[in-house]
Amino acid sequence: MPLDSLAQAPKQNFPEIVGCSRALKRVLAQVELVAPTDATVLVLGEIGTGKELIALAIHRLSPRRNFPFVSVNCAAIPTGLLESELFGYEKGAFTGALQQKIGRFEMANRGTLFLDEVGDIPLELQPKLLRALQEKCFERLGSTRTTPIDIRLVAATNQNLTQMVGDKLFRSDLYYRLKVFPITLPALRERPEDIPLLARHFTEKYGERMGRRIDFISSTTLNAMIDWPWPGNIRELENFIEKAVILSRGTSLRAPLSELRITPAVQAGSALEDVEREHIARMLRESGGVISVAARRLRVPRTTLNALMKKLGISRTGL
Ligand SMILES: Nc1ncnc2c1ncn2[C@@H]1O[C@H](COP(=O)(O)OP(=O)(O)OP(=O)(O)O)[C@@H](O)[C@H]1O
Ligand SMILES: [Mg+2]
Repeated sequence: MPLDSLAQAPKQNFPEIVGCSRALKRVLAQVELVAPTDATVLVLGEIGTGKELIALAIHRLSPRRNFPFVSVNCAAIPTGLLESELFGYEKGAFTGALQQKIGRFEMANRGTLFLDEVGDIPLELQPKLLRALQEKCFERLGSTRTTPIDIRLVAATNQNLTQMVGDKLFRSDLYYRLKVFPITLPALRERPEDIPLLARHFTEKYGERMGRRIDFISSTTLNAMIDWPWPGNIRELENFIEKAVILSRGTSLRAPLSELRITPAVQAGSALEDVEREHIARMLRESGGVISVAARRLRVPRTTLNALMKKLGISRTGL
């Protein structure tokens, strides 16, 4: 199929968002509604569904667009450092605080603060975050002076926050403060009609980057991609196409279709613990042994994954 036959109508407000499915259009309509307000938005969805892209789109369509968009990945910052990263500190606030540091809240002043992986914010930090959001002010660590802030908050997570609240892993008051306007992104398998457009988009993106002109995708390749459930969603599709572009020698996309086949990881009749052990080990392998990444894919907090690994006798080495 020639690539240029896979076209979509241009979307004025969302130039970088590809897709024509009803599920995506519903999401974009919600973004257009909420973006001009100052309401807190909670972006929900599986890994790789485009949560960050949507957060940025909300900022760009808001009156704050000419002020900073500051992103904090709460899962990537070590627990003990998150507080000073968010709120900053004064010189001498603690050993090693050699000079004043401006936190992300302050950096985002008049703009948008994006708290990514918000489910990973440690419980003990949650009251301080809630207070800053509610009272629109905070103190740098080691300071008694209260600094006012004017931010719009967008938060995202792939975890089930309702369940985390039930399990006492996330404070309910903060949860209700965050879920003023939730937007749930559909998984890619729920909108397979977007796959051909995304395939074209990524083929052109990586073709250009690697100086290769690819203008054809066979229908066998397209059908295999449409049938695959894409557990890693758009990011997985993007990585798959990048690899395909590398493998392509001519003007037709040569995709490694053997990768789109399910390998039966466990036998029928396995004990529940064996299935869990196998699945967790596989997620860890696919995440390069990085616990926070595997935890996100499994949609559990890091602490839960650590506890499960201990219980099931899984170590990061020798996976
Ligand atoms: N509709 C889309 N059109 C084009 N590219 C997209 C779309 N949605 C996502 N992407 C691309 O897919 C990749 C993953 O998107 P993004 O990082 O926003 O997902 P995420 O939901 O934040 O993932 P994670 O939960 O793993 O952080 C990015 O490279 C992004 O640009
Ligand atoms: Mg993200």
